[in-house]
Amino acid sequence: MSKTLIAPSLLAADFLHLEDAARIVNDNADIFHLDVMDGTFVPNISFGFPVVEALAKVARKPMDVHLMIVHPERYVERFAKAGAAMISFHEEAVEADGTDPAEILKSIRALGVSPGLVVNPDIPAEKLYPYLELCDFVLIMSVFAGFGGQKFIEATYEKVKAVRAEIRRRGLRVKIEVDGGVGADNARALAKAGADILVAGSSVFGADDPAAAIAALR
Ligand code: DX5
Ligand code: ZN
Repeated sequence: MSKTLIAPSLLAADFLHLEDAARIVNDNADIFHLDVMDGTFVPNISFGFPVVEALAKVARKPMDVHLMIVHPERYVERFAKAGAAMISFHEEAVEADGTDPAEILKSIRALGVSPGLVVNPDIPAEKLYPYLELCDFVLIMSVFAGFGGQKFIEATYEKVKAVRAEIRRRGLRVKIEVDGGVGADNARALAKAGADILVAGSSVFGADDPAAAIAALR
């Protein structure tokens, strides 16, 4: 098995000193996880283009933009231009208004960006299955999208195992990313269940020593 990638979520960083947070990711982690929220799909608003563009100037690791917004199709091009290497959006956010996730995944790939599809904890894994061929990764939420610092939902392990088995059964190379409540206490079990990328916000940037927290996740 290839090594598990660590993607610190900048949502938990000190926004007055984002360059310090970027340095921590550049020097210790694998991916920048950037949470974009619109106050409509989720009951919280985070940040958008200016922050992603600013980070692009200093990021030496790929930027993974997690869109928690309605109508992601309207914004993928701008996030690609802002420097995203990976863009994901929620299946349930687009299903609600009849937009075909397949078309959005294809448009992300056409922009030269890795496409990913996300499901919240209450959305069955099977919702991802029709789109696996179009995804470079799927993002399985282990908390309900919207806020950092929530408690990890234990049912995630079974969901990760099920998706891993489906990916293997179909001979695909889709990566599995897990997001929410991830820390040194559950990282190993998640990797064992089949997770390839672990997102961690508060367990990294809430720690006295973020570099040591990332090392503990590995
Ligand atoms: C939640 C976000 C997460 C969040 C994770 O909606 O998608 O990426 O920043 O934060 P922690 O690791 O604190 O649960
Ligand atoms: Zn996220």
